[in-house]
Amino acid sequence: MDSLLIKGGIPLHGEVTISGAKNAVLPIMAATLLTGDPCVIRRVPDLSDVRFMGQILTSLGATVAFDGDSVRIQAAKIKPHGDYELIRKMRGSICILGPLIGRQHRAKVSMPGGCVIGARPIDLHLKGLRALGVKFTMSEGYVCARAPRLMGTELFLGGRSGPTVLGTANVMMAATLADGVTVIESAACEPEVTDLAKFLVAMGAKIEGAGSPTITITGVKELHGAEHEVVPDRIEAATFAIAAAATKGEVKLLGARPEHLHAVLDKLREAGVKIERNGNSLTVKRTGQVKPVDITTLPYAGFPTDVQAQMMSLMLLAPGISIITERVFESRFMHVPELGRLGADVAIEGPSAIVKGGKPLSGAPVMASDLRASAALVIAGMVAKGSTQVNRIYHLDRGYEKIDAKLAALGARIQRVKGE
Ligand code: UD1
Repeated sequence: MDSLLIKGGIPLHGEVTISGAKNAVLPIMAATLLTGDPCVIRRVPDLSDVRFMGQILTSLGATVAFDGDSVRIQAAKIKPHGDYELIRKMRGSICILGPLIGRQHRAKVSMPGGCVIGARPIDLHLKGLRALGVKFTMSEGYVCARAPRLMGTELFLGGRSGPTVLGTANVMMAATLADGVTVIESAACEPEVTDLAKFLVAMGAKIEGAGSPTITITGVKELHGAEHEVVPDRIEAATFAIAAAATKGEVKLLGARPEHLHAVLDKLREAGVKIERNGNSLTVKRTGQVKPVDITTLPYAGFPTDVQAQMMSLMLLAPGISIITERVFESRFMHVPELGRLGADVAIEGPSAIVKGGKPLSGAPVMASDLRASAALVIAGMVAKGSTQVNRIYHLDRGYEKIDAKLAALGARIQRVKGE
């Protein structure tokens, strides 16, 4: 397995272009199943999760052709069966359920896998789809769905930890081809949901309110092919912003969409980081000491859970105490013991991590446990004294396009070591 070898202590300088958002492109690729016409998606990041989704769509009978950073998908005829092993590998694969049900009124997919970040149930997806008239049975690890007719209705999708992003995507996609009007209350407001809605509207769907907690979908008879450019990845942008701040560098993020980053930028400013906005680009710079800040992760527009681990790496540098509370995914603190190997002093108390920052960090071999935890380890490695080897980086390759090359272009001493 490949690993990354990082030499710490070098500030990042220069410009980096933000790629298309992983969490937007996956449901958008799935949405192409709603029509037999060809669809073209642009600004597609080169990620293993994206290639997986391509394979899943191919296994369902679609033709998928990648060409640079765009992909052309045509699902002229599809099977309701997904490949069990492929779907199991990736959490994002659950978003094929809504389109399969919308188009064919039946589906059989394996329970999804993905990052090990606490319990990741799909009860809300099923609840929302049941409200549209879908009947589910579970057998041998498969979710089997049947719906003689899909009927628009009013439904509430809020859960114990707030709304569900992919659950909202699934219900919205199925409802585009339902009879009548569907109103989703407590819908996820993430920009990736809005981007999916934009693509669906380009396909002929009638959707209002995406980006707010109430989404109204008026069913149409059929959807047609469309072209779409994926929204830039706010999590990648946040990760590079934090890396620039952590290494005491200055980095310009090109195409970062600052309006999707308010919560992160607010906390970075509070921590003493300078941020300048020029249109769609952001310059992030740190000259002084990092100040401790308290953070609570929340659904959008709150602080994203997908940036919690990276922010913890920055807080390791702030003399004093920062309290980081995780409200979206329980036990999403797998990076804490690994950061400890570098000298971090972090204690977990229920849903909170108490970071005693300002302790010296020194390089060590560490193990990446999930996608964002891996990014946190890379950031910590870039500030630790000496060399850090981040093992199991296939997690990083799932969600960050060419992260090693992008960081190297900013001056980081980072090298991919090929494993067996
Ligand atoms: C998506 C993102 C992921 C991000 C997460 C939260 C993709 C591919 N992944 O994941 O990167 O961390 O949003 O911003 O877009 N829940 C239930 N029942 C359900 C579904 C979810 O209880 O049926 C809970 C989850 O356990 C969690 C919370 O709801 O506590 C939010 O999860 P959700 O928004 O569904 O995450 P994903 O859509 O899977």
